[in-house]
Amino acid sequence: MIRPATPDAVAAAAEMIRRGEVVAFPTETVYGLGADATNPEAVARIFALKRRPAFDPLIVHIADRAMSALVASAMPPAARVLAERFWPGPLTLVLPKAAVIPDIVTAGLPSVALRMPDHAVARALIEAAGTPIAAPSANLFGCVSPTTAAHVEAQLGALRLVLDGGPCRVGIESTIVSFVEEQAALLRPGGVTLEDIERLIGPLRIGTDPVRPVAPGQLPGHYAPRLPLALVAMVADIPAAERAGAALLLPQPDADAEGFAHIELLSTDGALTTVAANLFAALRRLEARPWRCIYAVAVPESGLGRAIMDRLRRASAGAPAVQR
Ligand code: TXA
Ligand code: MG
Repeated sequence: MIRPATPDAVAAAAEMIRRGEVVAFPTETVYGLGADATNPEAVARIFALKRRPAFDPLIVHIADRAMSALVASAMPPAARVLAERFWPGPLTLVLPKAAVIPDIVTAGLPSVALRMPDHAVARALIEAAGTPIAAPSANLFGCVSPTTAAHVEAQLGALRLVLDGGPCRVGIESTIVSFVEEQAALLRPGGVTLEDIERLIGPLRIGTDPVRPVAPGQLPGHYAPRLPLALVAMVADIPAAERAGAALLLPQPDADAEGFAHIELLSTDGALTTVAANLFAALRRLEARPWRCIYAVAVPESGLGRAIMDRLRRASAGAPAVQR
């Protein structure tokens, strides 16, 4: 059931978390599906509801800096610098895990992913529950993350409670930086830019080690739209003959965008914050209609554009091929 995130609803949700139940809640990035991170049975319910494979670990959400000592057993100086600068916010740090976090949360890894969301409802919920909350994005495994309460209910209809905090401000998931090895590594581009991180702590190693994948959820086709999706550099790259029956996912207005059956315009000015905030809702709308295929137009691959392009690449890798 969707309930506006009033103080009463947040208190009821916190009580459910304490009892070992699962609750969906808003964050600034996407909606999460939360349970008490210290309760393995509660966390197991998340995996069942999402149909998520047990090898894919969860992010633990905290309300304040003090709580991080409960979840992580150590925080290297560079991680501390990032936490000081970007928490609360769309940044997840992978750190050595504390004993109180059960193996099911980390899929057996000795590390734990940790973040403090920049959303009053999320933090009020964690604080009232009095425990860190483990939460993946509140979608079925392999689907695009939800940015509204209605998105959550559309996929996970059986949930007892979805706290409605309105549409998510950032709209794409958090940036994940791992500190388990000597050099910090970017495991997933997201709401905090690589440039802003490297300015503070120097160069990161990019991506997962191909030999030892360290962010097990980051499979190339992890998000698989039902319709064929092709990523193109420019609208002009799409031949006129291939536009009929096709939908266009367009970051900003473009004079070349003619002849398509449908256009999802992500911003009126190309601002990447706006493009990111609108991206997942637009993908959901596109998937709901029987377009012959979807063409997505690239954005510059810097700043927030890196995270946007990462999601678009995963979408095109997971989708059936466009028939020409
Ligand atoms: O913005 C977000 O991060 C959202 C909101 C709800 O906080 N959450 C989110 O969770 O995107 P999820 O489960 O969809 O993605 C978590 C990612 C997965 O790719 C997982 O493999 C990685 O974090 N992860 C979690 N624990 C890890 C660990 N110990 N080491 C490496 N990667 C980890
Ligand atoms: Mg997810």
